[in-house]
Amino acid sequence: MTRSLNLDPVSLSVRTEPTVKGASTTGTSVRIDVLTIFPGILEGFLNESIVRIAREKGLLEVVLHDFRQFAEDKHRTVDDKPFGGGPGMVLKPEPIFACLEALIAKDQQPPRMLLMSPCGSTLTQKRMREFAKDERLVILCGRYEGYDERIKLGWPFEEVSIGDYVLSGGEVPAMVVIDSVARLLPGVLGHDLSALQDSFEGPLLDHPHYTRPADFRGMQVPAVLLSGDHSKVAAWRKQQALERTQVRRPDLLRGDARRGPDAGQV
Ligand code: ADE
Repeated sequence: MTRSLNLDPVSLSVRTEPTVKGASTTGTSVRIDVLTIFPGILEGFLNESIVRIAREKGLLEVVLHDFRQFAEDKHRTVDDKPFGGGPGMVLKPEPIFACLEALIAKDQQPPRMLLMSPCGSTLTQKRMREFAKDERLVILCGRYEGYDERIKLGWPFEEVSIGDYVLSGGEVPAMVVIDSVARLLPGVLGHDLSALQDSFEGPLLDHPHYTRPADFRGMQVPAVLLSGDHSKVAAWRKQQALERTQVRRPDLLRGDARRGPDAGQV
């Protein structure tokens, strides 16, 4: 059964029982299923800004699955102590397998599956663009010290990280992926060129931006931007982007291998 939250006009489904009966089969561009024991973390996020617009336009569907509901014991246990000892708790395989089996068995085409973890490969704009082309994504959000390794052996997960820092769970990283994918879907942004002009869509960081007033507390907008000369504006922006990239992210210009598998293709 589905618990419908009061998030009109676009209602958000949180599946809280061990079934996916009634899963939507609407013709949206991308459907993202998120497995989490804290669906509430994502609820407000899904109902605001670009993600909300993508959902309202029918271009994005997000379904939250509380995999705790698939635990079979009285206390709905999702974690346990690690074999071999050590601190923290580890996510058990059974509830996650049961949730995935209920979700995926009926799929004709297997979805792309992402497992959020600081041990994964670091995400880039290029990976996000690939995800935005998928019709179906499944995102598994971990908690505690980690996942039982058999979850990764039993399912074709791509283990991904949003950066070299540790968060308390995969929900925030899942929101990062959803936001990034939503704004890449054709028709979501008012101006489709906006996404293409972002930092990381080309080899350079984005140039500085200004809006009115031309003089704010004595700080002037660069004269070239007021000149009306489009080619001079374009040249100025390119130069600024280059200087900014040289100072802040010289690795992008070098195609530095430390940036991982997408090096040279930001
Ligand atoms: N879970 C905890 N930290 C994370 C990170 N940096 N990226 C993805 N998932 C995480």
